Amino acid sequence: MASLAGSVFCFIFVDLLVMGSMAYDVSTANDTRKTYIVLASHSRMPTIFSSPTSWYMSTLASVRREISSAAGADDAQIVTKDQQHSTDIIYTYQHSCRGFAARLTDLEASSLASQPGFLSVMPDKRYELQTTYTPEFMGLMPSAGLWKKTSLGADVIVGFLDTGIWPESSSLDDTGMGPVPKRWKGRCVDGGDFNSSVCNKKLIGARYFLSSFGSAGSLSASEYRSPRDVQGHGTHTASTTAGAHVANASFFGYANGTAKGVAPGARIAVYKVCWASFGGCMGADLLAAIDEAIADGVDIISISLGGSSVPLQEDPLAVGSFGALRSGVFVSCAAGNGGPSPGSILNNAPWILTVAASTVDRNFPATVKLGNGEVYVGQSLYTGDGAIPVQKPLVSLGFCDEASFRTENAEGNIVICQQSSEQEGRSTAAVVAAAGGVGEIMVQQKRLGHSIISSGFLLPSMNVDAMDGAAIQDYASAGENSSERRTSESSYRRPSATISIQGTRFGRQRAPKVAGFSSRGPNPLVRGILKPDIAAPGVTILGAWSSAPPSSDPLDNRKTPFNIISGTSMACPHATGVAALLRAAHPDWSAAAIKSALMTSADILDHSGKPILDDYDGTPATSYGYGAGQINPNAALCPGLVYDIDVQDYVDFLCSLGFTDEELELFTKGERQCSRGYKKLDGGRNLNYPAFVVDMSRSTKGETTTLARVVTNVGPASSLYLAEVEAPKGAMVRVTPSELRFSEEGMKRSFEVKISATMESYAVTREVEARLGLRSTFGSLTWVDAHNSHRVRSPIVINWQ
Ligand SMILES: *[C@@H]1O[C@H](CO)[C@@H](O)[C@H](O)[C@H]1NC(C)=O
Ligand SMILES: *[C@@H]1O[C@H](CO)[C@@H](O)[C@H](O)[C@H]1NC(C)=O
Ligand SMILES: *[C@@H]1O[C@H](CO)[C@@H](O)[C@H](O)[C@H]1NC(C)=O
Ligand SMILES: *[C@@H]1O[C@H](CO)[C@@H](O)[C@H](O)[C@H]1NC(C)=O
Ligand SMILES: *[C@@H]1O[C@H](CO)[C@@H](O)[C@H](O)[C@H]1NC(C)=O
Repeated sequence: MASLAGSVFCFIFVDLLVMGSMAYDVSTANDTRKTYIVLASHSRMPTIFSSPTSWYMSTLASVRREISSAAGADDAQIVTKDQQHSTDIIYTYQHSCRGFAARLTDLEASSLASQPGFLSVMPDKRYELQTTYTPEFMGLMPSAGLWKKTSLGADVIVGFLDTGIWPESSSLDDTGMGPVPKRWKGRCVDGGDFNSSVCNKKLIGARYFLSSFGSAGSLSASEYRSPRDVQGHGTHTASTTAGAHVANASFFGYANGTAKGVAPGARIAVYKVCWASFGGCMGADLLAAIDEAIADGVDIISISLGGSSVPLQEDPLAVGSFGALRSGVFVSCAAGNGGPSPGSILNNAPWILTVAASTVDRNFPATVKLGNGEVYVGQSLYTGDGAIPVQKPLVSLGFCDEASFRTENAEGNIVICQQSSEQEGRSTAAVVAAAGGVGEIMVQQKRLGHSIISSGFLLPSMNVDAMDGAAIQDYASAGENSSERRTSESSYRRPSATISIQGTRFGRQRAPKVAGFSSRGPNPLVRGILKPDIAAPGVTILGAWSSAPPSSDPLDNRKTPFNIISGTSMACPHATGVAALLRAAHPDWSAAAIKSALMTSADILDHSGKPILDDYDGTPATSYGYGAGQINPNAALCPGLVYDIDVQDYVDFLCSLGFTDEELELFTKGERQCSRGYKKLDGGRNLNYPAFVVDMSRSTKGETTTLARVVTNVGPASSLYLAEVEAPKGAMVRVTPSELRFSEEGMKRSFEVKISATMESYAVTREVEARLGLRSTFGSLTWVDAHNSHRVRSPIVINWQ
């Protein structure tokens, strides 16, 4: 009896285990296949398998057998057919991380997650796409500084994960370039309207990654199944970083001049991961591209994309870029266009350079003169002839979207439209033009500040900021009920306006400013790590373009080899270009050293010598807008000291965040384990980052936090640095030692920064909170050498709790 009872129990137990591993009932499970990214531990691969791929396929097949048999014999036919899917692994990953991507049902995914050695099974994630003049604006001149020192970034290979490339662009001209570096292992592939023979010494790699995006069945017919850029974005970003000199470039005459990339000597390798269908990109494709780029031998990866803010271990971009870092590859990403909301920042991992967008001192003014004589200045890129020189009636018609537009009121009028955050399909200008309107004044959303301009082409149109827009609107609608109108309709003067468009102007506004749309800190994932890291030009940037129309309006049939667009997508490739120049100048520097040099040399004053402003509201910008400041390429060339970080430091950092060994293994391929001990970095705050961010209680007087850092001398062998502190409001800052003496290059010195809350912290943060909606105050620590020739500045940020 005893043994019988035992076997019954055992049977039930086994049965439960099978059901348990599936998490839910087979009969109600959703059997639609979706892409999953599966990461595995190779140290736990059973020795019977000859290769990781055979392990993946075999495990997947057995999971499917298990599910099918649980579903019952009736489905035997389907079972056999289903098993063929064990070959439908769409990617295997080996350089950035270990694992694969496959089309799985929910049930298969949850069952796979419980298999030994399989660390993580995550549904694929979506990412979105987020210059003649800018190199000079950043201070790059052919005769001096970084350009001279680095032969324009010669031979640095930059990989772009984007919408592909328009190979006919003159920005890809390779005249005068040396042979392709021997270490390059990548290639160009053939595909729809893309012959690999178009590659040259400038465009040295071109591939595309479509398995996840394409399997969702949403690729449009007009899309090229090839590296060809149907959209324009990828061509724009690549030319911004590494475009060749192109004389007489402009957008229909706007921003005319010689177009050139920040590092015109760098090589371009294109990894197309974003598809025009709806401007989307999938994580599994992105990870495959990073994997390939590492194997190909790129030096830098530029990613003008962002998804959502998810924990590092669930973010394919964070996992993949850690793999890139392990191979010494520098990764530069867009900060996101979700500003000015606090915490809207994307791409938050400390091993990524996260780039915010700033304005340049070039703009495209247009003026509206109202019937009452008042004049407002906005911006316009209208590419048609002339403007509206004589007063025309002015009406305000809401959002001007196709669905709600009151067409009968537009005929012959200048129409005021409100910018919507969800404008799709036809542009408002097209709607207004179709209804007989003669001009358009677009009132921008408040969050954009002055930072975006119109791209009108069907009728003279200009953008004004929210405040001017409100004034213009008041004038337009006040007329309706004016006393003159009520007393005498005949003498009533209807609201009216003229529009004049001035073209390209320089230096009329302070610049740079932090763009209103640029995503802001604090870092929503890792409190102790400052994000964004740095700001670079990202507003109204001229870059090479595809044959796509320059606007997204379906009626737009203009063609232009150059387009002017804005976004942190445009800021990222500027920073990528400077990183390429630094890589050429200092081939022995780590990715973290390059990043430190960029950050500690950044500017916090604008070109007029005053604090950089926030274009959202015109107040002084903070480190949550521009990070360490505006990128300054020539200063970054000789930073004096760097805050270096190696792979082990990042491992200590991840362990300090509380990562388990399994979570760590997603990043490190199992070479290291948190459980074997690690250097405690105080929740990550003591990672050797070139910035200091602490949380402090605003009600506890005298609370003290101590941070530790190490700097490495990359300047003159014998040098002495003194600490110069600007304490954030509400705190005292002490640096020990306050003097760092170096006697050779490469020498390291450590120091501590002690931050103590002072009495007035509560009052201070109340004031700051009221003004910025943010409970943070900002200061800095600058190491200054004896000759004041090196100033190594790090922001200090206190988040008051
Ligand atoms: C299964 O999942 C897909 C994709 O998530 C969804 O579109 C579909 O409606 C789901 N089907 C059922 C029966 O829940
Ligand atoms: C690509 O171009 C080369 C040289 O111009 C030509 O020989 C080859 O046939 C082309 N390949 C395709 C697929 O068109
Ligand atoms: C520059 O381009 C414009 C427009 O494309 C053209 O009219 C002009 O002749 C060009 N100038 C030079 C110097 O090439
Ligand atoms: C741009 O065009 C304007 C008007 O044609 C001209 O005056 C100006 O010199 C040009 N600027 C450059 C940089 O070529
Ligand atoms: C004008 O008067 C109408 C009717 O009294 C009212 O609905 C409308 O809001 C008024 N407009 C303004 C701008 O005051």
